[in-house]
Amino acid sequence: MDHFQYRDGQMHVEDVPLATIAESVGTPFYCYSSATLERHYDAFADAFEGQNALVAYAIKANSNMAVIRTLGLRGAGVALVSGGELRRAQQAGIPAQKIVFSGVGKTEAELIAGLDAGILQFNVESEPELRKLSEIAVARGKTAPVAIRVNPDVDAGVHHKITTGLKENKFGIEWTAAREIYAKARDLPGIEVVGLSVHIGSQLLDLEPFRKAFLKISDLVAMLRQDGHDIRNLDLGGGLGIPYDGGPSPAPADYAALVKETVGNLDCLLVLEPGRMITGNAGVLVTRLLYRKEGATRTFYVVDAGMNDLMRPTLYDAYHHMEPVRQSDSNAEPLPVDVVGPICETGDTFGKQRPLPAMEQGDLLIMRTAGAYGAVMANTYNTRAGIPEVLASGDRWTVVRRRMEVADLLALESMPDWLEGDDDPA
Ligand code: LLP
Repeated sequence: MDHFQYRDGQMHVEDVPLATIAESVGTPFYCYSSATLERHYDAFADAFEGQNALVAYAIKANSNMAVIRTLGLRGAGVALVSGGELRRAQQAGIPAQKIVFSGVGKTEAELIAGLDAGILQFNVESEPELRKLSEIAVARGKTAPVAIRVNPDVDAGVHHKITTGLKENKFGIEWTAAREIYAKARDLPGIEVVGLSVHIGSQLLDLEPFRKAFLKISDLVAMLRQDGHDIRNLDLGGGLGIPYDGGPSPAPADYAALVKETVGNLDCLLVLEPGRMITGNAGVLVTRLLYRKEGATRTFYVVDAGMNDLMRPTLYDAYHHMEPVRQSDSNAEPLPVDVVGPICETGDTFGKQRPLPAMEQGDLLIMRTAGAYGAVMANTYNTRAGIPEVLASGDRWTVVRRRMEVADLLALESMPDWLEGDDDPA
């Protein structure tokens, strides 16, 4: 359930007509619903009631500080993967002891920032990273709390670009080498081993791969404890899939039951890192029809959002459901149309042969389920300045990231002195 619904034929975010926001901020823009964010967070957190669990929202999915803070106020911690995300989490007021730091390539500056912040744990992904972290910690008179990320070699059965738990993937320490690296970690002076982490992929619609991975992990934790390691935190990563196309998707309660069944007896603090499940359906991309173009074989709706604003369709062939903001009042059959952006690449296509009502130039359209991996993955290709993000709550709404200006982009560049001077390109 989300809070983007028609009322009197007009798509609303909570109590606000999207057309009102569009008139004020222009298009395209991302719009998020606080009530949906809260509802999804609560559904996930409630499913784990009775288990010793920290829900650490994976802010890579949507790192707008207003979104982080909305969830933080419900009790969420965060899972992050860069120094930049750490800054956001801190600025949004997330307590350091609710922060876990993952990522296969943390820089020295990032490790220092995490250490100085006093985060709950670093999920370390290689032996060189472990050594680097130990050195840094010793130099600063600190001890780094570490979970080793283990790669369980389980196929998550998802798009190849977002599967992470196979041995040929770059993530984690190979399953079979885990005991060895834990032994090394124990001997490093700046490291305190506190746990183990795993993350097998994203957008899983089937729970079985989780079961396989968690059972393997459970065996491994038992072994590591026999070796004398204090495994008290178990980070299970994120990955729970959501229904982009309205099809079935796993319920948080079933996921929580699976967690309990597979690792519940280990008496660990469970760290859960849902991203998409929390923010995906809490956001839409609102765009405007620029032109309706009759091609040789099909009709195109050319909209003002481009693949730079929402990368998922071109990058993962992802499906985002589209609906007009103003409900059609005609009884005519919807037309199959291709919805495309203005960018000079064929990949700049949001949907092919989608049944949409006849729309006029200037009409607004939403792309649903754009609250996760939407705004955060946007770029400025074709010198298209970043689009705004809006957050609504009841009948209130506000811009939580302003629209970029082209001047913002140009201000980052400078002309070399040898190109300055009197000569103008003829
Ligand atoms: N934890 C770790 C270590 C991760 O790498 C990820 C996502 C998550 C948690 C959150 O996973 P989620 O619950 O959101 O599935 N850009 C892609 C998704 C990339 C996911 C990367 N890792 C997309 O748009 O589908």
